[in-house]
Amino acid sequence: MSDLMQKIVSLCKRRGFVFQSSEIYGGLKSAYDYGPLGAELKRNLMNAWWHDMVHTRENVVGLDASIVMHPKVWEASGHLSGFSDPLVDCKVCKERFRADKAPQAAAGTPLTLTFADKPAAELARELIEKQFNVALTRHGKTLEGAIAGDRGYVCPLCSSPFLSDERQFNLMFKSSIGPVNPLEAVAAALEAGKLEGLKGRELRGAIEELTQPSAVYLRPETAQAMFVQFLNVQQSMSMKVPFGIAQMGKSFRNEITVEHFIFRSCEFEQMEMEFFCEPGTDDEWADYWRLERMKWWQKFANEKDRFRFRAHDPTELAHYAKSCYDIEYAYPWGWGELEGIANRTDYDLKKHAQHSGAKLEYFDPVQNRKFVPYVIEPAAGATRGLLVYLIDAYHEEQVEGETRVVLRLHPRLAPIKVAVLPLVKKDGMPEKARKVAEAFLARGINARYDEQHAIGRRYRRHDEIGTPFCLTIDSETLSNDTITIRDRDTMAQRRISIDGAVAEVELLLNG
Ligand code: GAP
Repeated sequence: MSDLMQKIVSLCKRRGFVFQSSEIYGGLKSAYDYGPLGAELKRNLMNAWWHDMVHTRENVVGLDASIVMHPKVWEASGHLSGFSDPLVDCKVCKERFRADKAPQAAAGTPLTLTFADKPAAELARELIEKQFNVALTRHGKTLEGAIAGDRGYVCPLCSSPFLSDERQFNLMFKSSIGPVNPLEAVAAALEAGKLEGLKGRELRGAIEELTQPSAVYLRPETAQAMFVQFLNVQQSMSMKVPFGIAQMGKSFRNEITVEHFIFRSCEFEQMEMEFFCEPGTDDEWADYWRLERMKWWQKFANEKDRFRFRAHDPTELAHYAKSCYDIEYAYPWGWGELEGIANRTDYDLKKHAQHSGAKLEYFDPVQNRKFVPYVIEPAAGATRGLLVYLIDAYHEEQVEGETRVVLRLHPRLAPIKVAVLPLVKKDGMPEKARKVAEAFLARGINARYDEQHAIGRRYRRHDEIGTPFCLTIDSETLSNDTITIRDRDTMAQRRISIDGAVAEVELLLNG
């Protein structure tokens, strides 16, 4: 993990943004809990998306669909048969990894295999010699003499080319619905001898069939509900094409490789919109949404040039897409995806119509004709977006011989908007400060009264969590009802009237 990422992960824990899930039990791989400040930040980000995508647009409406849907949805969408990653095991260090994400090594390249220590390397040398009849030379904790094979990749952990075959691993989390445990059916079949003689793929297939009637899946994307509910939404709201259905919420993928903190996790949140338009206008709408979405991400960022578009080339396009642009961000480990804007054509509506028998068409009263709309889909990661803004905001500078850490979060995203601080805990300052904080809370602005530690430490604490403004009640306040307002980024302070504080901060927050 890079130095910057380590600092961000540590800040997230120390200040209550993101915790490892079930930490007291040793944690659960790739599961995270959003603490008090993380919950606010995530909510602010998702609310901003909803506001800018739904509330400010006449032609976009929202949806909040169930996470567990009819299993046929995933059959029709192709997720059951095709939503899988190529899984490989390293036969030396036992690492399990995704073939498409593994380090590349052209056939014939000499390799250096690396292990934790000398004994581990010696064990690996013996295993390779015995199992693969290849003699390698050990230098400390590395082995020399192996050559990359035709696969074109090696183990990401030890660089070994001794790998299992690729297996397709479906990323959907499977569960069962109803009062019957699906294993009962398997047990009954075993007792009745119905599985006798079956092996490998055949045995797996038979068990799959027995458990299938109650099988359900946690949604791997929020998108499908918008296609499935297309007619209900269109008719109940009398929507006219072009229009969009937006949804945000949890999605689940049993990722083989979880990486970079919350960047890729098994449970995450998405913000997706399906925009239904007339075929023939789709390219224009795809361009429109691509630019809108880039503007949106850059609006809240300090460093706008760390975002870029990347067009998918035809070989990497998803089976449903006519075109796709990723909005990428320059993460500390390199450029990576933040959002995809895909032209999904009429693929999904047609597939669901085919599998369900429902007519998923739109009747255009002006042209007096029916058609199946094309769909442009801006699909963003909310939790990934949160990470992007933490990286963008994290800033260190030297102030009076000390390192000041400041989260330069956009005021709209900042978890706490204003801190109200009595200079000392006496002379009526706490009482006055509490009244100021209450005035903010009454106005719906997330304010925090804070009297712990010296004023300098309190400023630093609020800089570190991204609070845009600190208001300080001091002895002058008691004589003339003015307070100081301190700006997080410039640290500049000025006096304002206590009565006008809420209006003044509100104005600053709204830019
Ligand atoms: N409906 C299309 C769709 O879901 P996607 O590219 O698979 O497309 C959209 O996902 C966005 O969701 C990604 O750009 C990313 O920001 C986020 N995302 C996908 N998988 C994720 C994971 N395992 N962890 C965190 N975010 C993820």
